[in-house]
Amino acid sequence: MERAEEAIRRALGSKWEKIPLRALVETDSTNLRLKEAYREGRIAPPYLLTADSQTAGRGRLGRRFVSPPGTGLYMSLLAAPPPNTDCGLITILAAVAVCRAIEETTDLRPKIKWVNDLFVNGKKVCGILAEGLGGPVIVGIGVNLRTPLGGFPPEAGPAGALDADVEAPLLAGRIARYILDGLESPNDPAIIDAYRQRMPLTGQTIRYTQNGQEKTARVTGVSTDGGLMVEDETGPHILRTGEVSLGSGAFEGFL
Ligand code: BTN
Repeated sequence: MERAEEAIRRALGSKWEKIPLRALVETDSTNLRLKEAYREGRIAPPYLLTADSQTAGRGRLGRRFVSPPGTGLYMSLLAAPPPNTDCGLITILAAVAVCRAIEETTDLRPKIKWVNDLFVNGKKVCGILAEGLGGPVIVGIGVNLRTPLGGFPPEAGPAGALDADVEAPLLAGRIARYILDGLESPNDPAIIDAYRQRMPLTGQTIRYTQNGQEKTARVTGVSTDGGLMVEDETGPHILRTGEVSLGSGAFEGFL
């Protein structure tokens, strides 16, 4: 994948073009590969791994991430945030980095569903799985570039694709560049502002599950550390993790 690696380097820009990277045709999971290589002392941050397909792509909450060949970008970045960086902020800056890369390379304007799902025309086009390694972090990103023949399987949920004229290496390099830039000052308020501008749930009624119980609340904003601020009959509180859905259940025409 020499040509893909060269194209990724160009998109990384002069500041990051020399970081170690590999572009694979297929692997089980780019997150898993980096985790294993880091634990065995074979790589150190920063390190970028991309694949054209994954046989065991992993999503949040133990789900599978459908990663068929020829349709998507699957990438993981091993990075070293400054000490004590809030994990929530890393997720936030990754979502903003992917939005920026897509906005600059296509006509699309993705919206973020807290925490870090990216939607275009009511369909999820990108998922992000950040995993901490007790200091370094692996930021795994899957972007659906094209709709697979026969469509997405039902387990992929309301999935869609960018279906835009953009190549995976260009997107991968830009995304990694913006994450690496952002990790130099993850507390920069511009990052959370950029996130808030693309996260339209504020003011909406959402449903979420807590301790096995389904709850309803109104979203009042995103906290400075990336939590979802909500208000319900018990008063205001902040959601740190989990998954939310709209009161109506559908994102079509909204996200
Ligand atoms: C989600 O939507 O639940 C998160 C999906 C994250 C998928 C990416 S694809 C590249 C990296 N490798 C994985 O196994 N998962 C992440």
